[in-house]
Amino acid sequence: RPRILSGMQPTSDSLHLGNYLGALTQWVALQEHNEALYCVVDLHALTVNPDPAALRERTRRTAAQYLAGGVDPERSVLFVQSHVPEHTELAWLLSCQTGFGEASRMTQFKDKSAKQGTDGTTVGLFTYPVLMAADILLYDSALVPVGEDQRQHLELTRDLAERLNARFGEGTVVVPEAHIVKATAKIQDLSEPTAKMSKSNNGGKGVVWLLEDPKKAAKAIKAAVTDADETYGVRYDPQAKPGISNLLTIFSAVTGRDVDTIAAEYDGRGYGYLKKDLADAVVEFLVPFQERAATYLADPAQLDKVLADGAQRARAMARPVLSRVYERFGLLPAS
Ligand code: TYM
Repeated sequence: RPRILSGMQPTSDSLHLGNYLGALTQWVALQEHNEALYCVVDLHALTVNPDPAALRERTRRTAAQYLAGGVDPERSVLFVQSHVPEHTELAWLLSCQTGFGEASRMTQFKDKSAKQGTDGTTVGLFTYPVLMAADILLYDSALVPVGEDQRQHLELTRDLAERLNARFGEGTVVVPEAHIVKATAKIQDLSEPTAKMSKSNNGGKGVVWLLEDPKKAAKAIKAAVTDADETYGVRYDPQAKPGISNLLTIFSAVTGRDVDTIAAEYDGRGYGYLKKDLADAVVEFLVPFQERAATYLADPAQLDKVLADGAQRARAMARPVLSRVYERFGLLPAS
């Protein structure tokens, strides 16, 4: 069975609807027929220099949201990245194979480092994509379900994998593929529909947080920026109508209904009806999601046990891959 691997950063108290629709829903679908590993990438979160207590709390909260979203820890390996030291070990080998210029061209690095300045930017932020490549290659992963914003990091991972195979022999690592589902790969910000929904955009105004009060989410949807288009036409057209198209995408994803069917239903009726019904649909999704998350968070000891079990299984899978790569690189075996 093909291996699947993906992860999310525990950098906020709650995941958002973009994380859920762009990634988590695909994770849940893929665990059915594949051997899946899903991790909370706490080491990546260190690049934002979090408060230690907040990081601990957010790591559990992120895992609880994976579970609430349907990740099944019996079927999938659910773990915390820092519990498997092989990730950082492989990252070192990969960093010695990554060009400085190549890493400098990563657009997420360029954007973030431009905001932080040379002294505010850490070496960790620079090597972030290399650690991500290690996460993936460490398990011989074939498919990596992510949103559109991770495409370039996946390309780097593939380039590194091909480079390793060329330098150290075929079969050193598996060359992975991104699994990006076009319809939901880029959920846009409700207050600025030409930008992706993200915690850092506009102070989080246009974000639907999975664990926030559903009333607030409903309010954000009703306040969503729609398009300055006099016709009130409701149709899926991301170029001409980015706001409406984003609402249709979300509506379709949370109800499982077809985008065009929904568009036809609201066409010519005014945006308010669409927003109101979408708000209701999102609330209907959020309420049980939050109940499930709360159940997992109410028993942190049990949650930690699930994560410990996942880490043990992940390590058992990582160990032989790392040994193989060490050997190919010419590192002398310890025994
Ligand atoms: P992160 O934590 O920023 O986001 C987690 C996942 O959510 C997706 N996503 C979105 N999808 C659709 N619309 C949006 N507005 C939206 N915002 C975020 C992201 O594409 C991602 O799939 N570098 C990664 C974490 C990572 C990783 C890995 C992923 C570390 N190691 C190995 C895959 C495999 C990140 O920062 O994701």
